[in-house]
Amino acid sequence: LRSAPPLEMAQLYFRVFPQDAEPLWNNPCEDKRHMQIWSATKSCERLPKFLVIGPQKTGTTALYSFLLSHPAIRSTYRNPETFEEVQFFSGTNYYKGLDWYMNFFPGGVNSTTDFLFEKSATYFDNELVPLRAFSLVPHTSIISILIDPVRRAYSWYQHVKAHGDKVAAQYSFLEIVTANRDSPKPLQHLRSRCLRPGEYASHLERWLDHYPSTQLLILDGDLLKSDPVSVMHLVQRFLKIKPFVDYKDLIRFDKKKGFYCQVEATMKAPRCLGRSKGRRYPVMEADVEAVLQRYYQPHNVALHKLLTRLNQPLPLPKWLRADLQ
Ligand code: A3P
Repeated sequence: LRSAPPLEMAQLYFRVFPQDAEPLWNNPCEDKRHMQIWSATKSCERLPKFLVIGPQKTGTTALYSFLLSHPAIRSTYRNPETFEEVQFFSGTNYYKGLDWYMNFFPGGVNSTTDFLFEKSATYFDNELVPLRAFSLVPHTSIISILIDPVRRAYSWYQHVKAHGDKVAAQYSFLEIVTANRDSPKPLQHLRSRCLRPGEYASHLERWLDHYPSTQLLILDGDLLKSDPVSVMHLVQRFLKIKPFVDYKDLIRFDKKKGFYCQVEATMKAPRCLGRSKGRRYPVMEADVEAVLQRYYQPHNVALHKLLTRLNQPLPLPKWLRADLQ
């Protein structure tokens, strides 16, 4: 048995138990003892009832904006550092602690009638997030959106290029997706960031290691684009949210934008997403599309098995059925 001053003791402790160096936040409201020592000014309500986890470029912003049209749904305040998303569970923000996260949620909500949610599209494929999220909010519902991973990868490439990514600007899309171990490191890294989120089944399995499948809703991003009204009705049923709102009154197809946009009685014109959502770019070249289709084939087979196993309310997406034929 040894004793030491606090700092030294901490260092000794983490040398013996390195696995404890990473914090894992639990929900203070789920434990009476924690509640007793927690400040009376804090509230258990400032946590999400559901999370929209991504992946990026599948229509997550459209879903986010449609959700906000609902009178009982509210989201987090914007994070000025990460272009709106809070991204608590996926990066170093996690080390800022629970108060930091909870302060993003509006206070004064009625937890039985109001639905607070957070959307961070980086959550989907981050290895740490499912465990971290489950430790803090085990009863929260999880919503993910999938589109054809080939198109998702291309949309992501267009997105990072438009944001001035130097590596993306230097290489063609084909060069990026065919990069290998001999390629420059930044190119290999970009390829991985581009392709990995589309390996849907492996990421979903990680979420299912923690959350029961009944808490997981997987949406078809193509349907969200072509028939968002029916998707929003499905989401409301899944969340058991009241009042049930008819989205025919809240969103309408806008010919100019080429997508559905929000409408409200008080608005002069529909409110569409900005230019960075629904970008116009050249059609993907056939050679690179073929490379990507080959790459994603085994992942899509695994996804097909997974979706068949889960009892999801939506039928298999058309692109998945077509890909496996
Ligand atoms: P593109 O810009 O490549 O067309 P995210 O918000 O997850 O980044 O996804 C962006 C994608 O959402 C867009 O990709 C677009 O195709 C799709 N999307 C779906 N519904 C939309 C809508 N109502 N308005 C704009 N984009 C929408």
